[in-house]
Amino acid sequence: MNGTGTIGLNTAQANKKDEFYTQISDIEAELKYYKSYFKGKVVYCNCDDPLVSNFTKFFISHFQEYGLKKLISTCYKPNYHDFFMPNIQEYATYIEYNGTSDSLRPKKLKGNGDFRSKECIKFLCDSDVVVTNPPFSLFRSFINLLFEYKKDFLIIGNVNAISYKVCFNHILNNEMWLGRSIHSGDREFRVPDDYPLEAAGFRIDKSGNKYIRVKGVRWFTNIDYEGRHKWLQLTREYTPERYHKFDKIDAINVSKTKDIPFDYDGLMGVPITYLDYFNPAQYILIGNEYSLNISGGRGYINGQRMYSRIFIQRNPNAPQQPIFKIGNLFETANV
Ligand SMILES: C[S@@+](CC[C@H](N)C(=O)[O-])C[C@H]1O[C@@H](n2cnc3c(N)ncnc32)[C@H](O)[C@@H]1O
Repeated sequence: MNGTGTIGLNTAQANKKDEFYTQISDIEAELKYYKSYFKGKVVYCNCDDPLVSNFTKFFISHFQEYGLKKLISTCYKPNYHDFFMPNIQEYATYIEYNGTSDSLRPKKLKGNGDFRSKECIKFLCDSDVVVTNPPFSLFRSFINLLFEYKKDFLIIGNVNAISYKVCFNHILNNEMWLGRSIHSGDREFRVPDDYPLEAAGFRIDKSGNKYIRVKGVRWFTNIDYEGRHKWLQLTREYTPERYHKFDKIDAINVSKTKDIPFDYDGLMGVPITYLDYFNPAQYILIGNEYSLNISGGRGYINGQRMYSRIFIQRNPNAPQQPIFKIGNLFETANV
């Protein structure tokens, strides 16, 4: 829980509470930027109960509009034996939707629908792109699997995943980046009826469904989209008084992305949320505390430990900006 009454996705990780259901409005808000990409594609939602998931619902209802070839959706049912209801057995199901109503009927999976199972990996191999909200507690192995099978993906997760070694290495290699629609604030997720709601940021709708607000949500993808190459407009000039150097790193500290000095060519430590605006043509990612082997895992200034940073440097091929200055008004190169 934080001061605003919302809870972080990493709290979910700690609790192994993976049941957060994505709202259709959040899916629509992101997917609209990739419409042309999806034409002729086989989409796999591999953590998605075909009868419940809004990802599955989205792709069924936009099947023609997005020109999809096929939608596969598999759900997970962990092996479960309830002492009080021994006869109740739940099966993991799937659909392979091809636009016909027949193919909408869920079929039984042989296994439990674990995204790492042979059965699900076969579906993964048959697909072009994975779109889902994976379990937060398994985010690392989920990312590993996507890269191992060289799949395109558009998945929703916690901004802190940026700092996971496996994720950051892919970001550094320009093999994965943040999506388009979420850069701040929190998002609402539906949770199971028996979810313990101690957080202030929850509501129950008229039908009794429970929702909580979650902060630090981001889309992660390796699919390019318009807007990813937008130029970040910067207006601050570098002065040594304003930008302090780290104690043992030859880099200046920049506390807010908007304060990145446009005229500084050296190394800069910027907030991880800079990645919301990252344009590789403008700045080069050099590393983070981990990949740069910074001792103590953090930068210090005058002995004071700083927030986690990403280190960037101006792309030497980037045109100088701003191109002119009128009083306090800066206009940047339009590239
Ligand atoms: C964060 S929820 C999201 C559900 C759905 N994708 C959505 O966005 O509404 C993650 C889902 O992954 C399922 N899950 C947990 N472990 C899994 C595994 N090993 N393989 C596949 N799915 C799993 C959980 O049951 C849960 O429904």
